[in-house]
Amino acid sequence: MTHHTALRFGNRVILVTGAGGGIGRAVAERFAAEGAKVAVNDIKTEMVDDVVSGITSSGGVALAVPADVSDAAQVEAMFARIEAALGYVDVLYNNAGLIDTARHFLEADEAWWDRIQRVNLKSVFLCSHRAASVMARRRAGVIISTSSGGATRAHRGNVAYDATKGGIEAMTRSMALDLAPYGIRVNGVVPGFINTYGLTEEQLRERERAVPLGRYGVATDMVGAALFLASDDAAYITGQFIAVDGGVLVQQRSANVDTFPVEGFPVIPADLT
Ligand SMILES: NC(=O)c1ccc[n+]([C@@H]2O[C@H](COP(=O)([O-])OP(=O)(O)OC[C@H]3O[C@@H](n4cnc5c(N)ncnc54)[C@H](O)[C@@H]3O)[C@@H](O)[C@H]2O)c1
Repeated sequence: MTHHTALRFGNRVILVTGAGGGIGRAVAERFAAEGAKVAVNDIKTEMVDDVVSGITSSGGVALAVPADVSDAAQVEAMFARIEAALGYVDVLYNNAGLIDTARHFLEADEAWWDRIQRVNLKSVFLCSHRAASVMARRRAGVIISTSSGGATRAHRGNVAYDATKGGIEAMTRSMALDLAPYGIRVNGVVPGFINTYGLTEEQLRERERAVPLGRYGVATDMVGAALFLASDDAAYITGQFIAVDGGVLVQQRSANVDTFPVEGFPVIPADLT
């Protein structure tokens, strides 16, 4: 009946930064499957090529745009390439970032601080500013940025990382206001514990105990929030964040140290289907 219905993101151009692996790759692949033309960015060129050939071989449209998104000249060149090859960017998904950044505050130094601010925060400014300057002229566009639970609840040893994520949340609200009159929506996602890095089985089991939904997240868990915020279903939503974290941020204490332990929850038979 609806065989002729266009794919949700048919012909829309989306740029995903840091899409060589992890969350960014999962988001890029799903947008491609939904019909978008996807510009795949990462600083790691081989990873970009791998994602692009994966999308292309499954019938999607993807363009490799390797670049360091913390460098203004490379950001400008990247957007110019996308515009020439795919068209104007309809959706910018700011995902690139350094995640392995822990250092105790007392052992921090200026170079560490500056590098994390540049890659995780300045990159969001550069890409959003370049994207918005065109979106404003088109009176349409969506910007989605990637925060972290660290924006509102500190990670130990991560003052620089958490400051960038708090900065991204503040920037998102600010950009949402400045860009609303031009028809541009600006929102964000807050990933919880998404297993994109090499933890042992034991570490994974240990971490899962802190997640109310009882499991760690995988990169594809992030995709639904991205699609929703990018879609017209979210047409009246701007300046907001969606946490995709299995319930971590809404709890006061992890289950293994709670005064009302999960072990004391009522036993309810799973006998209804
Ligand atoms: N995995 C989690 O649990 C989690 C939790 C909260 C927030 N996040 C955020 O999600 C985003 C993606 O994280 P991930 O877990 O998929 O990690 P990841 O390391 O797999 O992805 C980040 C990507 O960004 C790329 N990158 C780094 N510097 C870059 C630069 N200067 N220019 C272009 N690309 C660059 C990396 O090469 C990498 O491929 C990050 O912003 C991270 O802070 C992740």
